[in-house]
Amino acid sequence: VKDPKRHPLIVGSGIAGLYVALRCREMGLRPTIVTQGRLEESNTRYAQGGIAAAVGPDDSPARHFADTVKAGDGLVDRAAARLLANDAPARIAALARYGVPFDTIEGHIALGREAAHSRDRILHAGGDATGLSIEETLKRRVLEGGIDIEERTTLRTLGPGDGVGPVAVVVRAPGGAAVTHEARPVVLATGGAGNLYRQSTNRPFAMGEGIAIAFRTGALVADMEFVQFHPTAFWREGAPRYLITEAIRGEGARLVNDAGERFMLEAHPDAELAPRDVVARAVEGEIARSEHPHVYLDATRIPRDRLFARFPSICRFLTLYGLDPSKDRIPVAPVAHYMIGGIATDLDGRTSIPGLYAAGEVAATGVHGANRLGSNSLLEGLVFGERVALQLRHPTRGGPKRPARTIELSLPPGDGGAEDTATLDMIRTRLWEDVGIVRTPEGLRAALAAMEALGRDVEPSSKGTVPGTVANAALTASLIARAALERTESRGAHYRTDWPRRRKIWERHVGLSARRASRGAR
Ligand code: SIN
Repeated sequence: VKDPKRHPLIVGSGIAGLYVALRCREMGLRPTIVTQGRLEESNTRYAQGGIAAAVGPDDSPARHFADTVKAGDGLVDRAAARLLANDAPARIAALARYGVPFDTIEGHIALGREAAHSRDRILHAGGDATGLSIEETLKRRVLEGGIDIEERTTLRTLGPGDGVGPVAVVVRAPGGAAVTHEARPVVLATGGAGNLYRQSTNRPFAMGEGIAIAFRTGALVADMEFVQFHPTAFWREGAPRYLITEAIRGEGARLVNDAGERFMLEAHPDAELAPRDVVARAVEGEIARSEHPHVYLDATRIPRDRLFARFPSICRFLTLYGLDPSKDRIPVAPVAHYMIGGIATDLDGRTSIPGLYAAGEVAATGVHGANRLGSNSLLEGLVFGERVALQLRHPTRGGPKRPARTIELSLPPGDGGAEDTATLDMIRTRLWEDVGIVRTPEGLRAALAAMEALGRDVEPSSKGTVPGTVANAALTASLIARAALERTESRGAHYRTDWPRRRKIWERHVGLSARRASRGAR
């Protein structure tokens, strides 16, 4: 490669990865996308509710900003939120230009409502197939643009680069040899970590591997205690934890218990449209109180035609389980959904390592604070993806602020044990049980000890060996438990029984970084 600066490597093919690649190409760069599965496989594809933007006649970016800040429970980076809200209409226009067929009513863009939004501002496509429409449209543009794509290829390590960016080692499956990309700008758009939890809406590969690899390379990581749980995933033994979008509550669906009582009325003045963390905890509380494994979403008051037109995918899915949502109540329970924390970046997606960028769910910009507002996630991939692309074209120096409360952790060699799915299962069960919606100090301590022990088992015993997926899962899981133990308060998505309220001293972020002596291409 003649000029590696012009050949960024983009890891991941959700909304952030595809958008950065497209914008880079339009700016004359020659990006390569590396992605674990097929190009179109990502969590983005399964996003239902939509994408938030203040484009309605009664709305404004200032209101969108204010709602984002309020939902974030005192921890939102205001500059990031302002940017998100202000830039949203332009990013929607960009998606429309690429050809995303947003739903309209009588020639006007159709806008839905979701929890904690003070206005109808959720754009959607194909009813509840917003993510699918976006992913497919961007994929088409990427293919037309002749962008280099390496499918079924996994990032294994990042090594020290030469200032332009890190050296990346990737492996093509199945059984492919390792390929080393020379030092160049690298954008991590590897998505979230929801599948580190036994119950999750996420795709199997969403296990925070990008976070672990960046952390091992020395990147600062932040806000890992904030894992968002979605209150309404389909809950039936043996069925997938299929998302039942918040937008259905925006249309009037109600949460009821087995006795048909609307328990959200007592939990919050906004009832079913309270912030997501409040609803998830209330549902969890109702499940614990009633000893019934789930509650119900009752959408029967929404007119049948409207229900089936607006939420066709959900209605189709429920039919497979013999349910007609216009007549039947839908069994639902909260599950892990979205990683608020991740690789710390500044507003231009720069991490603490020169030439390494992060965008989308894997990044922690501070824009969501302690609790993300629904439908701000697809948006963040675009808004911060745009800024990453601009940086790639004209790089400037910068990076995230190191939180005053940053814990340095060592990464000692382990026993080099074989990786297996049993270890992964233990991680997922432990996180779900002890680092879930309601956390206790004993549970957090036990989970951290368990993650560290599991990590030791599978961590390579020599520095030259590349850690595998399970070692990375154990590492990311331990970062979540470590940060949750550190934050002795309850705020947003992080709730502890020993500190059930917010504390002023905790209006700050928790950073995590690898102790310098342990860094390197491990
Ligand atoms: C939903 O549709 O309820 C999820 C949207 C989101 O997580 O932003």
